[in-house]
Amino acid sequence: MTSEQFTDSTVTAMVEAAIAAVKASADTTVLERLRVQYLGKNGLVTAQLKRIGQLPGAERRAFGQVVNRAKEVIQAGIERRLEWLTAQQLDQQLLEDSVDISLPGRTMPPGTLHPITRTLRRIETIFSRLGFQVADGPEIEDEYHNFEALNIPRHHPARAMHDTFYVAKNVLLRTHTSPVQIRYMHSHEPPLYIIAPGKVYRCDSDVTHTPMFHQIEGLVVDRDISFADLKGVLVYFLREFFEQNDLKVKFRPSYFPFTEPSAEVDMGCVFCYGEGCRVCGHTGWIEILGCGMVHPEVFRHAHVDHGKYTGYAFGMGVERLTMLRYGVGDLRLFFENDLDFLSQFK
Ligand code: PHE
Repeated sequence: MTSEQFTDSTVTAMVEAAIAAVKASADTTVLERLRVQYLGKNGLVTAQLKRIGQLPGAERRAFGQVVNRAKEVIQAGIERRLEWLTAQQLDQQLLEDSVDISLPGRTMPPGTLHPITRTLRRIETIFSRLGFQVADGPEIEDEYHNFEALNIPRHHPARAMHDTFYVAKNVLLRTHTSPVQIRYMHSHEPPLYIIAPGKVYRCDSDVTHTPMFHQIEGLVVDRDISFADLKGVLVYFLREFFEQNDLKVKFRPSYFPFTEPSAEVDMGCVFCYGEGCRVCGHTGWIEILGCGMVHPEVFRHAHVDHGKYTGYAFGMGVERLTMLRYGVGDLRLFFENDLDFLSQFK
């Protein structure tokens, strides 16, 4: 393209030199300098225009056209080069900024389920196999569901302020998961086979008590349910949970206002197998849960026809089950969020 001939040899030489320099320019700074050198106010093209005055009148017009044409050619050359250099720069930048996908990633240590969550899931799995549904209820309860409907009369020690967190008059943090029994019976028709896991609160705090802990409630209401059904289900559950087919289990008469008869369940110590150790207080037995047949007074509050149905209920502490299963010696470990402790439960 520099082969374009101008009638004036000086102009032709100037255009050729300009185009060669533009093509050789390595970056936009050099190119800008060339633009000023040729097309600037004091540039070489302008200098040629100034020659017009020295020419005979008849040649002036033609020479003016020649210089203007030369100017256009140089301008176009600079523009094309600018485009190319800019594209070139972009390519270079993209190349430098690109991510090396062959680099190994920075690893993040995977989280683990909290041991309490693991135990809850384990318990839910075992009871699901027996046909139980998982139910839940509010942690903020009223006195009716937490106490009254469960046949816990007004003067009962469990109602005293030192046991219960009151939010307002008549409103409290549930002290056990048993109110879910009442709520479930109100909203469902028997047959009922449920467990209700969740948080409970008691105004109590020392080495073996925390103000919040977890329980799992169980409730069965159906025709012809007897204490034998309760026994069978709980023995099966404990043997599955502790993975000990010959685990010894005994039912000891006890008292709960909402069950009659009531029992506490002891199992053979899972640490010393009944030999006697620190964990079982050298008795060979560990107390593990409370249970009993649903009290007729509870059925009356729950609008269940006691002539037609009977049922049983049980409740157990999830922290305690977890400590026994994994050999955790201190309750407080569950609430300290120490990663060294928690990451052992994979
Ligand atoms: N709610 C009782 C407690 O918190 C446990 C329990 C539940 C006992 C159901 C019997 C039946 O101690």
